[in-house]
Amino acid sequence: MGDDILDGLLSAIPLPALVIDASEYIVAANPDALALIGGQALGRNYVTILRQPALLDAIEATLSDGQARTTRYLSNDGAQDTTFNVSCRAIEGSQLQSETAALLVFEDVTMVEQASQMRRDFVANVSHEMRTPLTALMGFIETLRGPARDDKAALVRFLDIMQDEAARMNRLVGDLMSLNRVESDERVRPTETVVLNEVLHSTFRTLRQMAQDAGVAFEPDFPELPVTVRGDADQLKQVFTNLIENAIKYGGAGGRITIRLTVSERETALRATGARVQIIDYGPGIDPVHLPRLTERFYRADDHRSKALGGTGLGLAIVKHIVNRHRGRLRVQSTLGQGATFTVILPVAPQN
Ligand SMILES: Nc1ncnc2c1ncn2[C@@H]1O[C@H](COP(=O)(O)OP(=O)(O)OP(=O)(O)O)[C@@H](O)[C@H]1O
Ligand SMILES: [Mg+2]
Repeated sequence: MGDDILDGLLSAIPLPALVIDASEYIVAANPDALALIGGQALGRNYVTILRQPALLDAIEATLSDGQARTTRYLSNDGAQDTTFNVSCRAIEGSQLQSETAALLVFEDVTMVEQASQMRRDFVANVSHEMRTPLTALMGFIETLRGPARDDKAALVRFLDIMQDEAARMNRLVGDLMSLNRVESDERVRPTETVVLNEVLHSTFRTLRQMAQDAGVAFEPDFPELPVTVRGDADQLKQVFTNLIENAIKYGGAGGRITIRLTVSERETALRATGARVQIIDYGPGIDPVHLPRLTERFYRADDHRSKALGGTGLGLAIVKHIVNRHRGRLRVQSTLGQGATFTVILPVAPQN
C-alpha cells in the first residue's frame, strides 16, 4: 500500500486513527490522531509517544501475534479528561513491511462513561435515601414486638414516628416518579397557553395552610395584566410549589415571602420577551459554595435541617428539568443572612 493511499484512507476515518509498523514507528496518522497525540508523533517510536502501559502492551502484543485487541487510553487537554476506547488491529499482508503493522482507532467514550457513572451514583443515592426510613421502621417494629409490647404510651409515640418515616418514603417515590416523567418529556415542547398570574394564585391556595402554620405571609407583587407563556400548567404549578415550599421551609424565619411577577421586553438570557417569576425569602439564605450544585438530585445545602424537614433533595432537580423543558432559565441568588431569591425566566407566548 502506498503512503498516499494509506494517508487517504486514514483521513477518511472519522475518528483519530494511526498506523504503527513492525519496526515500532508511527508511519501514518490522520489529523484527529495528531491533534490527540501531538503533531510531532509521525515517524517516532510509538513507545515514546503513547506512554500508557495498557496501550503499549496491547500494541506490542498485536504486532507480535496479529490478534485484535481493545484497550483504554486517557487523555487530558489541561481542562478535562477524555477516555478513549482504542481498537488495535493487525493489518495483515500490508506492503508497508513484510511483517504485521497495527491500525489504532480511538473512540471517545467519555460520555458513555459519565452516563454509567451517573447511573451508579443515582442507584447508590436512592438506596441510601430509602434505607434510612426503612431502618427506622424496622427498628420500631422490632421494639414494638419486643420490649415495648405492652407499653401503650410508647405504641402511640412509635406509630407516629413510623407514619412519618413511611410518609417520607412515599414522598421520595413520588418525587422520583415525577422526576422521571419530567425527564422523559423534556424534549417535547409544551403547547398550552398558560396565564402565570392564575398558576401562581392556584399555588398560593395549595400552600396557604402550610404558610400559615409556619407563620409566613405571602406578598404577591403582580402586574394588572395577565402574563401568558406557552407551557404546561401542572408542571409550572409544580415549579412554583417547590420553590415557595422551600422558601417557607428554609426561609420561613423571615416571616414573609415576596412573589414577584414581571415582564422584561428584552430578556438577555432568552433574547426574547421574558416573564420573570421571583420567589424572594428573607431567611438565613444559602452559602454561595452550595449554589452551583443546588439543583443536583439529592443535593441538600444543610443536610441535617433539610432531612429534619422531610426534604428528599429532589425538589430543585424537578424544577430545573421543568424549566428546561419550557426553554427557560433558573437563577439563584443569595447572601448569607439575607435570604434567597429564586428566579424563573420563561419566554412569553407570542400574542395572536
Ligand atoms: N429558600 C431557601 N433558603 C435556604 N436554603 C434553601 C432554599 N431553597 C432550597 N434550599 C436548600 O437547597 C436544598 C435543595 O432543595 P430541594 O428543594 O431540591 O430539596 P429539599 O427541599 O431538601 O427536598 P424536597 O424539595 O424534595 O422535599 C435544600 O435541602 C436546602 O438546603
Ligand atoms: Mg424542596
